[in-house]
Amino acid sequence: MKGVGIIGVGAYVPDRIVTNRDLEKLVDTSDEWVRSRTGIEERRIAGEDMGTSHMAVLAAQNALRDAAVAAEDIDLIIVATATPDHSFPSVACMVQEALGMKHIPAMDVSAACSGFVYGLVTAKQFIDTNTYQHVLVIGSEKFSSIVDWSDHNTCVLFGDGAGAVVLGEVPEGKGILSYEMGSDGSGAQHLFVNNVTNFVCMNGREVFKFAVRQMPESSLRAVEKAGLQKEDVDFLIPHQANVRIIDAARERLGLPEEKVSTTVRQHGNTSAASIPLSLFTELQNGKIHDGDVVVIVGFGAGLTWGSLCLRW
Ligand code: ACO
Repeated sequence: MKGVGIIGVGAYVPDRIVTNRDLEKLVDTSDEWVRSRTGIEERRIAGEDMGTSHMAVLAAQNALRDAAVAAEDIDLIIVATATPDHSFPSVACMVQEALGMKHIPAMDVSAACSGFVYGLVTAKQFIDTNTYQHVLVIGSEKFSSIVDWSDHNTCVLFGDGAGAVVLGEVPEGKGILSYEMGSDGSGAQHLFVNNVTNFVCMNGREVFKFAVRQMPESSLRAVEKAGLQKEDVDFLIPHQANVRIIDAARERLGLPEEKVSTTVRQHGNTSAASIPLSLFTELQNGKIHDGDVVVIVGFGAGLTWGSLCLRW
């Protein structure tokens, strides 16, 4: 039986780098505070003319090239984002038009930082059932547009960017081996966008506690569902929010530092874009090899979480 897996990966980040020192000029913060609490050193910030859909298109073009799949051979577009250009139309429809694709279905998924995992799992169902052959899954975010740049609690944490993958058929035994997802709306008040100000509001400590517990547990559930053990994991791509959260998950899984992605250092938290952006970066770094067991795990507002266990 065929597998369903990632056959191409692409990413895009804006050129403008904003360092912690740059933020010292904006709010009461310090490079030392941000590094020690989050691990973040710098983030990319998109200009006025660069919206979420534009970044999504640029990442998608790279992924299509990497997969050697033509735009007209894509059967479905799923975009995970919390910062769409508009409430409607969806970013996915804007990508369909910009890439000159056929009149295929296109939709956005709203699960905040877990959105990319939700998108991948949704895409997999359509390929499993032979409904579609190739699905483009994108995570794209312009969090700079919903951050209060006078609030030191949140503005130091986020960045802009996009990552994309093409999901398609892979040889038996490869691709997505298992997945698991969940939500707990009782934690909705810990992380949300205020409808009046349109700014992110966050109870950092509560989100931290949730993430430290749920990230390793969700990862382990996916690994077990795949019939594997934590010792079998070769590389972990966690949602990139905070190095301390990532370290806690890493320790629970018993993984050494070199087997876990921490691209949050250079990108900040890019929400739904963080996992595909991190995947792209680590592939470029030569960290993921043919046959590796890779675990992807996201958590975010909702509260939501989700994991995938893949054989690369
Ligand atoms: N610079 C300097 N001081 C700051 C800053 C800053 N940027 N931000 C907060 N502080 C201050 C606070 O005001 C507070 O001061 P006070 O005690 O005088 O009031 C002090 O630092 C300590 O704040 P804490 O909240 O205790 O700091 P903590 O160690 O918890 O770290 C952090 C805060 C980094 C936000 C942490 O809680 C965290 O990472 N939480 C998870 C956040 C996260 O992952 N969010 C994204 C979720 S994904 C999604 O769906 C978007």
